[in-house]
Amino acid sequence: MTDHPAPKSKEDPPCAGSQPPQTELRLERVRRPGPELLALLAAYDEEAFGVVGLRACDLAVMAEAGAVFVAWQGEEVAGACQLLRMLDEPEFLYLVGFYLRPGWRGRGVGRRFLELVSQESRRLGAQGLLLTVAPDNARALALYRRFGFAEERFVPDFYGPGEDRYLLRWRFEEGVDGQCMIEDPGRR
Ligand SMILES: CC(C)(COP(=O)(O)OP(=O)(O)OC[C@H]1O[C@@H](n2cnc3c(N)ncnc32)[C@H](O)[C@@H]1OP(=O)(O)O)[C@@H](O)C(=O)NCCC(=O)NCCS
Repeated sequence: MTDHPAPKSKEDPPCAGSQPPQTELRLERVRRPGPELLALLAAYDEEAFGVVGLRACDLAVMAEAGAVFVAWQGEEVAGACQLLRMLDEPEFLYLVGFYLRPGWRGRGVGRRFLELVSQESRRLGAQGLLLTVAPDNARALALYRRFGFAEERFVPDFYGPGEDRYLLRWRFEEGVDGQCMIEDPGRR
């Protein structure tokens, strides 16, 4: 997820309700994002991940060489993510960033979003997904566990000093709710 920590200082805004949204989440692959969309997505990435968020130039490269997806809930951007194909294991895709905007969190949208990403990944011929997640990102870990992601490695200082990450892998053949090997967050 990605691979970035959950924001430490931003809380879900008061507009975030506990009710599931009324409209269906829709995934759009953005092939040639213009400067305005790139700036918007970079701002949302920073909102979600702070200094390790992707910049407009990173997103432009990913749209060209990988895939950038925007998750629409009605007319609103509910979240976004990016996929890259693993150079050494092309049958696996790497989910670089995966986030919901603050108002859409905690409402079950993440589960639907990940379902759509996995469907898209299968359409792209992938056998599974890899991602990294901060050890203290309990909500993301819970979501990934539910889908069958399992710990591949614990990588100290993955993003730099003190920025440890789990590398997780979900083999689609092992299915949703597959065997989970991830320990409870905070135990390492
Ligand atoms: C991570 C994220 C995509 C999850 O989506 P979401 O819709 O908010 O997820 P949910 O609220 O449905 O929670 C997912 C699961 O975590 C559980 N959960 C929620 N808060 C939790 C917490 N503090 N501790 C443990 N589990 C928690 C929920 O109960 C749910 O489990 P369940 O499906 O078994 O009931 C979203 O919160 C987000 O964008 N966060 C900020 C960016 C981020 O951290 N991205 C992931 C980077 S790897």
